[in-house]
Amino acid sequence: MRILITGGAGFVGSNIALQLRKAYPQAKITALDNLRRRGSELSLPRLKNAGIEFFHGDIRVPSDIASTGPADLIVEASAEPSVHAGYGESPAYVVHTNLVGTINALEHARKHSSQFIFLSSSRIYPIDPIRALPLSEQGTRFDFEEGVSGQGWSRNGVTEDFGLEGHRSMYGATKLASELLIEEYKQMYGLNAVVYRCGCLAGPWQMGKVDQGFVVLWASRHLYGGKLSYMGFGGKGVQVRDILHVDDLAELVEMQVGKTMTRTIYNVGGGYEGSISLLEATQLCMERGGQDLGIGSVPETRAADIPWFVTDASRIRSEMNWKPTRSIENLFDDVFAWLTDYKESLYDLLGPKS
Ligand SMILES: NC(=O)c1ccc[n+]([C@@H]2O[C@H](COP(=O)([O-])OP(=O)(O)OC[C@H]3O[C@@H](n4cnc5c(N)ncnc54)[C@H](O)[C@@H]3O)[C@@H](O)[C@H]2O)c1
Repeated sequence: MRILITGGAGFVGSNIALQLRKAYPQAKITALDNLRRRGSELSLPRLKNAGIEFFHGDIRVPSDIASTGPADLIVEASAEPSVHAGYGESPAYVVHTNLVGTINALEHARKHSSQFIFLSSSRIYPIDPIRALPLSEQGTRFDFEEGVSGQGWSRNGVTEDFGLEGHRSMYGATKLASELLIEEYKQMYGLNAVVYRCGCLAGPWQMGKVDQGFVVLWASRHLYGGKLSYMGFGGKGVQVRDILHVDDLAELVEMQVGKTMTRTIYNVGGGYEGSISLLEATQLCMERGGQDLGIGSVPETRAADIPWFVTDASRIRSEMNWKPTRSIENLFDDVFAWLTDYKESLYDLLGPKS
């Protein structure tokens, strides 16, 4: 078995690579990454110790992918993963990496008949319809009144049937465009492909920053010090996301190996029970020994921000007989343990001056 993981030194890619190594000790596993994300280089010793080959390459360059050789399975986990990418700057990087890069990976899969697993995002769902949902502030979070629901959404989350009309950020658009091409490759070339539309993912080895990876950003600031603000929607910290522990995702990928699905697109996330607001995240951080940071408030909402997103992952749960097994509390425990154990190497990256 030969496995190629693009973005393989990144948060998701490296954790999937290590999970697949455990499941397939004899497999040749290659992690391709251009190390653009600050902190991805810290994964190189983890990969090496597990006998995973690292290829310093760029998904935008077809010959780099070709150099990794034939693959039975490709997990496409490379990306510029910030929803804020492109605002006030050229969209070239996010478009070329997230869309052209996916096409390059698909071409590699077509040539070698590789199974293809694509990490897409809940950010393909358009911004304005999400903002228009009838949310109200209930205690520490935005939520719906009991029993309220609509086309493709309920308190349990957004399903794959939510409408797609409207803008969604350059990041979301590159992911949706990639999904469309994957569907065509599947139909035209018989590719065995699946798309995971992921809500927020978190866990150890995520190099959280202000524009992406809020769980680690929150935890690291509470542990190492630094400033934080509740940004947008009045600056109260009541916005909500569901979070999936990266190990739950990696287990799903392991289950996916060699399987053919009835459909292409599946929402993947922690669901209502895995959802949290920023205020609630602050509480969990303080309970785990975090400092009281006196979090600031920025009432203005950034262009791509949404007040709420919860993933309804019923489709994949029933088809794969999979469900997350790690609670939000487990997740914060794991992140705090990692930040404590690796403080020496992480402090420059995630400390107050980062
Ligand atoms: N983390 C989340 O909450 C989340 C949620 C939904 C979807 N996703 C998707 O999951 C995938 C992995 O995200 P992540 O959280 O691990 O992000 P990450 O930034 O940690 O990992 C992405 C990796 O891709 C690499 N990369 C960037 N540009 C590249 C290029 N041109 N060529 C080769 N490598 C390149 C980066 O160096 C990085 O190591 C992405 O597709 C992302 O969109 C992530």
